[in-house]
Amino acid sequence: MKRLDDSRLRLGGKELVPLVIGGMGVDISTAELALEAARLGGIGHISDAMIKTVSDRRFDTSYVKDKLKLYKYNVANPDKSAVQFDLGRLAEATRLHVASTMEAKRGDGLIFINCMEKLTMGAPRETLKVRLTSALDAGIDGITLAAGLHLGSFALIEDHPRFRDAKLGIIVSSLRALQLFLRKSARTHRLPDFVVIEGPLAGGHLGFGLDWAQYDLATIVAEIRTWLAAEKLDLPLIPAGGIFTGSDAVAFMEAGAAAVQVATRFTVVKECGLPPKVQQEYFKASERDIEVNTISPTGYPMRMLKNSPAIGSGIRPNCEAFGYLLDANGNCAYVAAYNREVAAHPGVRKIAVRDKTCLCTHMRNFDCWTCGHYTYRLKDTTVRHADGSYEILTAEHVFRDYQFSTDNRILLPGG
Ligand SMILES: Cc1cc2nc3c(=O)[nH]c(=O)nc-3n(C[C@H](O)[C@H](O)[C@H](O)COP(=O)(O)O)c2cc1C
Repeated sequence: MKRLDDSRLRLGGKELVPLVIGGMGVDISTAELALEAARLGGIGHISDAMIKTVSDRRFDTSYVKDKLKLYKYNVANPDKSAVQFDLGRLAEATRLHVASTMEAKRGDGLIFINCMEKLTMGAPRETLKVRLTSALDAGIDGITLAAGLHLGSFALIEDHPRFRDAKLGIIVSSLRALQLFLRKSARTHRLPDFVVIEGPLAGGHLGFGLDWAQYDLATIVAEIRTWLAAEKLDLPLIPAGGIFTGSDAVAFMEAGAAAVQVATRFTVVKECGLPPKVQQEYFKASERDIEVNTISPTGYPMRMLKNSPAIGSGIRPNCEAFGYLLDANGNCAYVAAYNREVAAHPGVRKIAVRDKTCLCTHMRNFDCWTCGHYTYRLKDTTVRHADGSYEILTAEHVFRDYQFSTDNRILLPGG
């Protein structure tokens, strides 16, 4: 095989270009980006992270304002346990985002939604059930279960009429995580339709500790393949994390992958939700400007640009408006860190919180610049203008470069 295009992913009676654009939370992987992937014959993802914010932006709804109004009385209270999501409104926002995306779909590809278990939203089970159910109701082609082991997620939707027809998959970073998922989901008598294997070079949250550099995606893929073969299970495997060129993708296909999932190269396309100014930061970054840190309140390490405004910011938690990371008891690691700093610095107006960040607010504002390991290579994928800025690409350009490129070449715009 020379080019990624020499192969096809067979899924749901379709033959797809074996390229998946991964979910990038809080509207970095926009509907527009996912729609381009589908139009070009691959798979695109929208994300349901902070769905009310996304809906307010896309449809001029007022979910966030309304929630804040409801809980305004609690803003100065360090205890956030009163804050809850209205399940009806959560369902409504999810249906709006999904249905309008699916109505706009053209071409032969598919659109999936990325659902992160770590968005515990004050009531983990109840809210996850509503998110998954409403996405299926609204006609999503498939769901990718992410950021969590999802041991009970299939069971939450097993009674849904689309449980067996929608494409359902999971992201794992180890054989053990996959084994656990399969064991716990076995009683629903349904296997996942695909398994994304995400290695340590990916963007967003990592399924590894700070020793991430000790792990290697190809090794994990091989380990999972060998085990599945021994179990006589045939599941399409989709490696992700650090696949930067079409040739990188081909190497994984030759090692038995059914498709590849990528994201970083699409952070600098015009259909991506990142503001153009932030996209220039991604282009400019060098290897030493990127770190994996533990400031995410989810407990997972996260890779980001070191100059992200989110790092060290001590803003007041905004759970009354957002609250996506509150656990079942109304706790969030940032709220605890913030309260600790406030208590330690009485009378100080502007405090800094170094160990955790208010991920909801900063992701909402595009101030947490999470990125893949190879972000420092993005500057090599475009041209530079006389004013020093880098040219923003199109999703079609990057998609086709993955699809057709050979010999590790990267097609420059206009090339
Ligand atoms: C900016 C950015 C945000 C991301 N957000 C999410 C997310 O919300 N959920 C998720 O499961 N993965 C997320 N990811 C991971 C991607 O979906 C993808 O699997 C991974 O980044 C692929 O590796 P690559 O970026 O090296 O191509 C994110 C990646 C990036 C670059």
